[in-house]
Amino acid sequence: MTRADFVHAPMLKWFRKWLEPHDVIRVPEGQRVLPRCRIRPYRDGDFEVCAEIFRLNEGKHFPVGLFEDFAEKLRVEEKRPLELVAEVDGEVRAYGGITRQIGERRASLSYGMVHPEFQKQGFGTAVLLARVVALGKPKWDWVVALTSAGPSAAFYDRFGFRYTGQYKFDEPVKMELDNYAATVTAKAWSECDEFVRNSDVSFDASEVSVPERDLLAG
Ligand SMILES: CC(C)(COP(=O)(O)OP(=O)(O)OC[C@H]1O[C@@H](n2cnc3c(N)ncnc32)[C@H](O)[C@@H]1OP(=O)(O)O)[C@@H](O)C(=O)NCCC(=O)NCCS
Repeated sequence: MTRADFVHAPMLKWFRKWLEPHDVIRVPEGQRVLPRCRIRPYRDGDFEVCAEIFRLNEGKHFPVGLFEDFAEKLRVEEKRPLELVAEVDGEVRAYGGITRQIGERRASLSYGMVHPEFQKQGFGTAVLLARVVALGKPKWDWVVALTSAGPSAAFYDRFGFRYTGQYKFDEPVKMELDNYAATVTAKAWSECDEFVRNSDVSFDASEVSVPERDLLAG
C-alpha cells in the first residue's frame, strides 16, 4: 500500500458510505438478543387476542378511532396484509402486518402492536424484522413505509426509518399521522435475515408471502 492509498482508504470508505441511501433499514446497533418466540401467520382464531392487545394500547400509545380499520383488515381476507403474530407457548404477545403496493417496489407496515405487559422485551423488534424478511431478498431496492402516531417514532428510528411527511386521515376519524420510510437493499435484507435466523425466533419466511394490494384505495 502506498502512502496515497493509506490516506485515501478511509476517505473512499466514507465516500462509499455517503453514497448509500441514509435511510437503509438495519438491525439497531447493540441490539439485544431477541426473545424466544414463534412467529407465524395470523389465523382467524387469533382475532380476539389481537383485538385485546389493540385495545390495551389504544389511547395510551396509539390514537383512538382506528379499531374498525384494524379489525376490517383482519376480518376481510381480500384486505388482509401478511399479518404475523409472535407467540410464546401458544400465547400471542405481539403482531404486525405488511402489504406490497401493486406494481411498485414499495411495502407498507401496519399496526405493529405488543401486549403492554411484554413491551420493551424485543417482541416488537422480532415482528418488525420478520416482516422485512418476509418480503424476500430484493433484487432492487425496496421502500418500506409506515405511519406512526408519534411515541413509537423513536423505536422505528433505530431501524433506519426516516420522516417523510404528514398523512391526513379523514376516514374513519380526522387525524394526522407521521409517515416514515426506510430503504431495503439486498445487503440490509440479508443482515436482517441472518439476525433473525441466528436468534431464538422460530420463523419460516418460505411459508409466507406478502400480498399485493392497492394501498391507495384504502
Ligand atoms: C412500539 C412497539 C411496537 C415496540 O415494541 P417493543 O416490543 O416494546 O420494542 P422492543 O423491545 O423490540 O424495543 C427495542 C428497543 O426500542 C426501545 N423502544 C421500544 N418502544 C419504544 C418507544 N415507544 N419509544 C422509544 N423507544 C422504544 C426499547 O427501549 C428497546 O431498546 P433496548 O433494547 O435498548 O431496551 C410497542 O412498544 C407497542 O406495541 N407500542 C404500542 C403500539 C404502537 O405504538 N405501535 C406502533 C404502531 S405504528
